[in-house]
Amino acid sequence: MAVIELSNVSRAFTVTSRTGFRRTRREVRAVDGLSFTVEPGEVVGYIGPNGAGKSTTIKMLTGILVPTGGSIRVAGVDPSRNRLKLAKRIGVVFGQRTTLWWDLPLKDSFAVLQKMYDVPRARHRENLATFVELLDLGDLLDVPVRQLSLGQRMRGDIAAALLHDPEIVYLDEPTIGLDVISKARLREFLAQVNAERRTTIILTTHDLDDIEALCSRVMIIDHGHQIFDGTLAHLRASQSAPRTLVVDLATSLPPIEVPGATVTKVNGPRQHLTFPTTTKAAPLLAEIAANYPLVDLSVAEPTIESVITQLYTPTPTS
Ligand SMILES: Nc1ncnc2c1ncn2[C@@H]1O[C@H](COP(=O)(O)OP(=O)(O)OP(=O)(O)O)[C@@H](O)[C@H]1O
Ligand SMILES: [Mg+2]
Repeated sequence: MAVIELSNVSRAFTVTSRTGFRRTRREVRAVDGLSFTVEPGEVVGYIGPNGAGKSTTIKMLTGILVPTGGSIRVAGVDPSRNRLKLAKRIGVVFGQRTTLWWDLPLKDSFAVLQKMYDVPRARHRENLATFVELLDLGDLLDVPVRQLSLGQRMRGDIAAALLHDPEIVYLDEPTIGLDVISKARLREFLAQVNAERRTTIILTTHDLDDIEALCSRVMIIDHGHQIFDGTLAHLRASQSAPRTLVVDLATSLPPIEVPGATVTKVNGPRQHLTFPTTTKAAPLLAEIAANYPLVDLSVAEPTIESVITQLYTPTPTS
C-alpha cells in the first residue's frame, strides 16, 4: 500500500507587490494539480528548476503547509491535520536551514530529540552509535551547532532527522554546499539507511549525481506540474538528446566525413561525433572502419544533465 498519496494537490500563494502607491495582488500557483503515490522503501528523486514547487510540496507532505486544493495522505493520515502524530513517523532535513538548536552542542540536541520523540533509551544509544560512526560525528558531539561548518552541520541534521527511526524521510537539498567527499559519504549513508531500514526517501536536489547514486525513480516538476515520473533509464530514453561517438584513429586527421553523424571536436587522433538517438550506431561504426584507420571507439549516452536541460527548456511551438 502506498505510504504517500497525493491526489490533485494544489497550493496557491497570494503575493502583494507595490509600485508607488498602487498595490497589486497576484496569485502564484506553486503546486498545481499534482498527483502521485510512493510505495514503502522507495527512494524518489524530486527534481525541477528553481521555483518549480519542490519545497512547497515537501512542506505540504510534512503538514507545515496546508494545500489549497486536493488531498494528501502520508502514512495513512492527512499531514496538516495530524502534524504531531505524523512527526514521529517522518524525518525532515531542509538543507537551507538547520533544525538543530544553535547554541547547544550536537549531543545535547540529540538528547532533546530523544525526549521529544520519546525514543527508548537503548534504541537511541544504538542509533546514535551507528550514526556517529557512519557520519563521522565523533569529534563534533561537544561542539555547539553554530560553530560547525556547513558540511558538519548537515551531517548533524541528517542524524537528527533519523534518530527516531522514521519510516519516511524528506531531504530538501541535503547536499547543497557540500564538498565532493562529504557528498559521497552522505549518499553512501542514505543508501545504507534505505537498504537496512527500508526507509522511504524523498530527495530534492540540484545535484543530479545524487539522483544517479540513489534514486530508482525520478519525478520532475516544473511550474507546479509533474512533467516526468519514471526510472532514470526511461528518462534518458524519453528524450532525443544526441549520442556521442568517440573515435580513436591511428593518426591525426581533419574532421572525418560520416553520413548521419557530425564531428563536434577533434583532439589529435581522437574525434568526437554526435548522432541522433534514432540512428543506429553499428552502421556508423562500419562506415568509419571501412574508410578510416580506426583504432578504438566508444559510444557515450547523453548525460542526465543534458536530458533534463532539454526537458526544462520549452520547445518552441509553431
Ligand atoms: N510563502 C510563500 N509566499 C509566496 N510565494 C511563495 C511562498 N513559498 C513559495 N512561493 C512561490 O512558490 C513557487 C515555488 O516555490 P518553491 O520554494 O516550492 O520552489 P522550489 O522548487 O523549492 O525551488 P528551489 O529549487 O529554488 O528551491 C515560487 O514561485 C515561490 O516564489
Ligand atoms: Mg526549494
